[in-house]
Amino acid sequence: MEQDREGEARGALFRALPTLLLPWYDQNKRDLPWRENTDPYRVLVSELMLQQTRVEAAREHYVRFLRALPTVEALAACPEDALFKLWEGLGYYSRARNLQRAARLICENGFPQTAEGLKRLPGVGEYTAGAVASIAFGAPAPAVDGNVVRVLSRYLGDALPAAQLRKAYAAALAPVYPAGRCGDFTQSLMELGATVCTPSSPLCLACPLLSLCRTKSDALPLPARKPERRHTEVTMLLFFAGENVALCRRPAGGVLAGMYAFYTEERALSAQAVEEALARAGAGGAKVGQGTAHRHVFSHIEWEITAYPVDCTGREAAVCAAFGVAFYPLGKVKAELSLPSAYRWALRLFKE
Ligand code: ADE
Repeated sequence: MEQDREGEARGALFRALPTLLLPWYDQNKRDLPWRENTDPYRVLVSELMLQQTRVEAAREHYVRFLRALPTVEALAACPEDALFKLWEGLGYYSRARNLQRAARLICENGFPQTAEGLKRLPGVGEYTAGAVASIAFGAPAPAVDGNVVRVLSRYLGDALPAAQLRKAYAAALAPVYPAGRCGDFTQSLMELGATVCTPSSPLCLACPLLSLCRTKSDALPLPARKPERRHTEVTMLLFFAGENVALCRRPAGGVLAGMYAFYTEERALSAQAVEEALARAGAGGAKVGQGTAHRHVFSHIEWEITAYPVDCTGREAAVCAAFGVAFYPLGKVKAELSLPSAYRWALRLFKE
């Protein structure tokens, strides 16, 4: 009996969501570039960009990306270097690769219009499929990410942590999707999580769900603690000769796989150890400059970097052979090649 009553009460809370959220969304939604229209390609690009990037950080990149690659055909045909250059600063470059593979599949087979079909595209999981199906195709397909779980778990008074809640919430949301406004309903839940029902200090007095919310501002469940990042000491060798600097590609299967990089070792090396390595490589006498310390934070790893400039003028061939690098003009590296931000900071260590 008790359970039936609780089930009925939860059902009513879910059914109330569109009525409470849509008028609030109409009045309060942020003016974001991907909300100008619901072209499926534009929606897909925005949702992949927003997978691991904050709205404010994605905004300008999105406009630049769409200007350079306005159609799915343009993206499918874009050379990888140019694609990565457009993605520069967003991180997680595998998303850019997936987006292009998705574009090529769409050019061949057409744009999938259901969440199930969208999920077969590379880089598109449950959440992104729901977001694109509802926003671009008006389908009643929920998109439940960590932010939506936070909003709903507070509203319903469910305890965190809550990996299982995600599935349960998606199942409960699907039948209450309002015909004709599915995309807005999806985005209203995201918007509430981003602007009102924030992880800390939520603005409960401004919340359209306040009258029914089972948590209100008291006893907010704490957000789950993030696991600690692994710290790794890293040595970078910034080989240069005149106006040219040496880059390699990151190894497959690890962080920044396949991206341009300076020669990197995941251990601390003294300047003397670097000189000895150069001598063994047949590049003895190359001048090793002072090391510069820098920290770069990835999602799960933190690099404690020491970067040594190495003037190897006259020893380029030996360095290329031993360290697997190739030389490029510094101007080209700055303007045309996509060097991930874990490396890009070091460009300032080369004298102009
Ligand atoms: N996060 C993920 N998708 C979003 C969208 N369409 N609008 C705002 N934030 C988002």
